[in-house]
Amino acid sequence: MATASGNKPGIFAIRDVQSLVTETTEEGHGLKKAVGSVQLTAMGVGAIIGTGIFVVIGEGAAVAGPAVILSFILAAVACVFSALSYAELASSIPVSGSAYTYTYATLGEIVAWIIGWDLILEYGVSVAAIAVGWGGNLNAFLDAAFGVALPDAIAKSPEDGGVFNLPAVVIVLAVTLLLVRGVTESARVNLVMVVIKLAVLGFFIVVALFNFGTGNFQPFMPSGVDGVTAAAAIIFFAYIGFDAVSTGSEEARNPAKDLPRAIIGSLIICTIFYVLTAVGAIGIASPAQLEATDAPLAAALDEGAGISWAASVLALGAVVAITSVVLVIMYGQTRIFFAMCRDGLLPARLATVNQRYGTPARLTIGLGVLIAVLAALVPLSEIVKLVNIGTLFAFVLVNVGVIILRRTRPDMPRPYRVPWSPLLPIIGILFAVYLMSDLPWDTWVRFVVWLALGILIYFTYGYRNSKVRKAALAGRTGGPDRPAGGEPR
Ligand code: ALA
Repeated sequence: MATASGNKPGIFAIRDVQSLVTETTEEGHGLKKAVGSVQLTAMGVGAIIGTGIFVVIGEGAAVAGPAVILSFILAAVACVFSALSYAELASSIPVSGSAYTYTYATLGEIVAWIIGWDLILEYGVSVAAIAVGWGGNLNAFLDAAFGVALPDAIAKSPEDGGVFNLPAVVIVLAVTLLLVRGVTESARVNLVMVVIKLAVLGFFIVVALFNFGTGNFQPFMPSGVDGVTAAAAIIFFAYIGFDAVSTGSEEARNPAKDLPRAIIGSLIICTIFYVLTAVGAIGIASPAQLEATDAPLAAALDEGAGISWAASVLALGAVVAITSVVLVIMYGQTRIFFAMCRDGLLPARLATVNQRYGTPARLTIGLGVLIAVLAALVPLSEIVKLVNIGTLFAFVLVNVGVIILRRTRPDMPRPYRVPWSPLLPIIGILFAVYLMSDLPWDTWVRFVVWLALGILIYFTYGYRNSKVRKAALAGRTGGPDRPAGGEPR
């Protein structure tokens, strides 16, 4: 394998770590360093708490029964090990692109491309699905609070009996405009939304505790341990997002401290809220009640505890919560795409930073429109599992990346180091593979088709235009050529 300092121009060409860090500070291509640790943690929580706890918990309860509580804990434990690896790589390589960038510096170009392509699934496709969930919750709130709901024709995808999903399009385009305006403004708005959603979950937990009963806890594990692990593979969706913090590492003011703190901190905060919420939900509603609806927590308050005003409050809270998920996940998608364009694996002219806003505006608008079209037409079903398998695959590669980089670049400054490496990264890999193996085979088929499409695109475009390979072929060492100048005002 080529080392970081000796690029070789094959499909396993390696991106030099140092050039990754220095190039991003060059004029016209550096993103504004505007985000501190509280904002980064909020970014994590913003990406994490959303559709998973407000919607997917119902499916988890259907599979595992009351033991869905254990599924939440299992999924969190599975994430912790990979979170540590994300923290090490994000603090050592604080540039845009997350797992894509780390893989480029460790496993080589084609693996990086595959992971970047895979992350499009995790981020871009999931934003469309999350936006659909947002629309559904908005409609549920309008219905519960005012007795007016949008007609199906403009509120559902064709497969769900509508024509197109207007609310989903509206939220995607609104978030796109916010992201074009700039990360500081966006992070501030996100912080407010995060506070609101923690308050709403806290509200749910308190109301549930005051109406708590133990009757629904029997039988606790109707499908046994298999049910718990199968539900964990689905519930995992609720934890996706802590890695989104690392996609914004280039904009962090003090990546060495702030990134590990934000990644691990946001994971811990969410786990505590999820477990308490799951306990509260089972305390007031049966798994069957949670399963039978698109808004299980609101239904638990309404049908389980019989407090309908609280259900309206919760539905509105879900709308706010999911808004911040759309914001952060979409932010992550733009930054990963930005890094892939900058490396020439996608058209480099897209990777320009708008001079006025300091954001990749052109790219953001292009992606926003594509995602809005998907959101208008895509049904929610199955997307969760597909997103999960893609994300778990990314976890595997990130853990592998930590192990390899420790060997190939032992002296590289690592502001944060995973303790007991390679043991903990290996445990992270095992957990990810274990959860992947619990997903159904048709999810695997879709995933493999998606990856095959990506490999085809690599060989028809990326392979020819890769800046790392071009530079290596031209006999130079170090980083790739700089892309063309900044986007005009
Ligand atoms: N974790 C995110 C959610 O639950 C993706 O919506």
